[in-house]
Amino acid sequence: MTFIAASGAAIEIQAAVGCSVMQLAREHDLGIEGTCDGSLACATCHVIVEPAQIARLAPASAEEEEMLDLVPGLQPTSRLGCQIRLTDELDGLVVRLP
Ligand code: FES
Repeated sequence: MTFIAASGAAIEIQAAVGCSVMQLAREHDLGIEGTCDGSLACATCHVIVEPAQIARLAPASAEEEEMLDLVPGLQPTSRLGCQIRLTDELDGLVVRLP
């Protein structure tokens, strides 16, 4: 998958299936905190999915939507990185770092 930094730089990372976008960003020091370790209690794992790719993801749960409401700079394709688990089907996913 690929992360796009705030500077516009693309960072392509080989990810294991089952890893979350939040875990991957943390492992590579991309500035994602993920303070609650994926328990939907912090919203510090905010990422912005490339609009052309948002349909590849399952819709956000009600709990995820509630946490997203707390995110500064919310975008129409904002998601919580801890809720995106990588699968073979998501190969090549692109998300922006806020
Ligand atoms: Fe806390 Fe995602 S890591 S909501």
